[in-house]
Parts: sequence; structure tokens; C-alpha cells
Amino acid sequence: MSTDTPDTQEFRAALSKARHALSGGGPLVVLSGAGMSAESGVPTFRDAQTGLWERYDPTELATPEAWLHDRDRVWAWYRWREHLASTAPPNAGHIAVARAERHRQVVVVTQNVDDLHERAGSTVVHHLHGSLFAHRCDTCGEPMDPGPPSAAPVDHLEPPRCPRGDGRARPGVVWFGEMLPSAAWEASVSAVTGASAVVVVGTSGLVHPAASLPALAAETGIPVIEVNPGPSGLGREVDVHLRAPAGRVLPDLLSD
Ligand code: OAD
Repeated sequence: MSTDTPDTQEFRAALSKARHALSGGGPLVVLSGAGMSAESGVPTFRDAQTGLWERYDPTELATPEAWLHDRDRVWAWYRWREHLASTAPPNAGHIAVARAERHRQVVVVTQNVDDLHERAGSTVVHHLHGSLFAHRCDTCGEPMDPGPPSAAPVDHLEPPRCPRGDGRARPGVVWFGEMLPSAAWEASVSAVTGASAVVVVGTSGLVHPAASLPALAAETGIPVIEVNPGPSGLGREVDVHLRAPAGRVLPDLLSD
């Protein structure tokens, strides 16, 4: 065990139980949320004081209605987040997940819109909530490339026009009230139900349908391990709780 995981008997017992659940080398699903990238410097949504939804109102920034109401504000906010995510380095947790592919099949199912799993080296990553880097026209849906975001945050920024018509570039993320990308969702359900274990990392477990995946695994008899230093909305579907930050516990949990 590394020296910076919690050094209590309870934690050591939980880690040992979790490692046992992962033994056997079958396919592993890692379901990640914003806490996975917290140690990379990307803010979560709901952590007290540091979470984005503590400082910003999601109804003003993350809904189709917000886009219709004040497109330039929404675009500026997402371009700021794109800059933050693009300059954040993968942390020890992302790297441990990627390295686990050396000894077993690993599918990452993420609610995160950053690309830190991919930059750490994970090869199969399903983005349930889209990507900050995949812009598309808000009218015809074709991909658009608005160029790199500027480092300086601004309150308002006009999104570029689509060359094919009257549309504008919009962020390629899933807003509240929108459907998840069906291919990513179906692939995630299939990976979860075919896994030998599911490790849930850094999610409050409050946003559906992603939050229903741990229960789906549990109903199928698949062990579910949660890595989260704080409380979450997950309950009886979790077999082992590892109450520690992702970057500290995942290298110990996922090493061969
Ligand atoms: P939340 O911000 O809701 O939850 C983050 C979780 O990460 C919390 O449970 C924290 O305790 C935990 N956490 C914080 N630091 C951690 C660390 N170092 N290691 C492990 N865990 C840590 O984020 P999500 O659950 O991802 O959706 O939020 C789900 C969705 O709500 C997001 O994808 C986004 C948001 O609104 C959309 O924008 C559609």
C-alpha cells in the first residue's frame, strides 16, 4: 500500500476486500465522475465551496433554454472550461486506470467531458455526457472547429457561425433535459452487465441515467466498489466503500 492512503485498520480491510473482488482478471468497468479529475485541478460540480454549481446556476448555463436565452454567455463559459480541461494533466488515478489495461480488459464509462482518461492512455472510453472538445452546429448538427479557446475568461463570447446556414457552434456536451448519446449509453450498459466488477469513482450518483449503472451491476450480481472521500447518493448497490481520493487509492486498488 502506498504511504498516502488512509492508514486505518478499517481502510486496509476495505482495500483488501476490494482487491479480492477485482481478482480473477475479468473485464473491469470504471465509472467515473467529476471527482476523478479533481486532483488534476478540474473543479467538480457539487463539492462544497469548490463545486461549479456552488458558484454558477446550472439553469443559466447547462440547459437548452439557457442556450436560447443567452447563447454568448453559455459559449464563453464552456470555452473557459475547455481551456481549463485542456491544460489539466491526468492524475495518478487516470494513470492507474489506463495501466490496468496491461493486465485486463478495462472499459471506462465517464460522465466527464474532459479527455483526461484518453490522455492518460485509456483506449476504451464512453462519454455519457459528451465532450468539451466536440463542437457541433446547433442547427444542422455537423461538427464544427472553433479553434483553441483563449486562456482569459470572458463573460460573453459570440459562437462562430456555421458555414452551411444560420446555425452557431455549440458545445458537444449533454445539457440537462437532453438525451444521452445513444451509442455511448448502449455500449456502457453492455459493458457494465458484462463486467466482472465495477469501480465507481468520484461521482455524487445523483444524475440519471448514469447514476443507475451501479444498481444495474449490483442487480446482475457484479461487485461494485466505490472510491470517494465524501458521501454520495449510492447506497446498497455498493459492496465496498473506499473513502479516499482517486489519485491515492486507485494505484493501490488496480495494481496487478
Ligand atoms: P459531482 O460534483 O456531483 O460529484 C463529485 C463527487 O466526487 C463527489 O461525490 C465528491 O465527494 C467526489 N470527489 C471529490 N474529490 C474527489 C477525489 N479526489 N477522488 C474521488 N472522488 C472525489 O460530479 P458528478 O457526479 O460527476 O452533468 O456529476 C454528475 C453530472 O452532474 C455531471 O456529469 C454534470 C453535472 O451536472 C452535466 O453537466 C449534464
